[in-house]
Amino acid sequence: MAASVLAEDFSKLSAEIEEVERAGADYLHLDVMDGAFVPNLTFGPMIVEAIAKLASVPLITHLMIERPGDLLERFVDAGSHVVSFHWEAMKEGHGELIERIRKLGAGTGLAINPATPLSDVSHLLDALDLLLVMTVVPGFGGQKFMSEVTSKIEEASKIRADHKYRYVIEVDGGIGPGNAAAVRKAGGQILVAGTAVFGCGDYAGAISAIRG
Ligand code: DX5
Ligand code: ZN
Repeated sequence: MAASVLAEDFSKLSAEIEEVERAGADYLHLDVMDGAFVPNLTFGPMIVEAIAKLASVPLITHLMIERPGDLLERFVDAGSHVVSFHWEAMKEGHGELIERIRKLGAGTGLAINPATPLSDVSHLLDALDLLLVMTVVPGFGGQKFMSEVTSKIEEASKIRADHKYRYVIEVDGGIGPGNAAAVRKAGGQILVAGTAVFGCGDYAGAISAIRG
């Protein structure tokens, strides 16, 4: 599972990262928001770099920004192991951007909003290391899981098996102990959770329930 740092207490960044890793998080999920692609603003490469210095698990950077190509090198240099950008953020050039991420030496990730069908991105799937399926409209932590997206996770899992694609299916938004089993059963492999972990008193209990 990937712990979304969006929900942690940033005044205790270092202690929070240490605690969530000790509690069993396999990855840290870093939500970069620009106040334009989504109506919320978080952090940029400088904070990613600070987190990279503190973390021992790999970092999956989730760019919710317009023109994700502009700061790509900075996000990779900052220590992102995987960089995922949104299909909906650009009109064209997705394949080229994926290739740039690959050439920079990071894992390639593409995120799709709940309303985006897999058929929109089918031509890109074989180039991906990670497909990020959103189960909330991106922008904020603590939203309700959209169960209607479950069939898209199943479809992504079937396409992956049929074509022998290598992408890992990451699922993000509203995940917690109550729905994690259904997400895993549908084919979700890396489950992201923010509120369900940092919002409860027992990080290890929440993480093991989410990992299954
Ligand atoms: C939403 C972010 C998510 C969010 C998940 O825009 O991409 O990663 O932090 O938070 P929870 O687990 O609280 O839904
Ligand atoms: Zn995210």
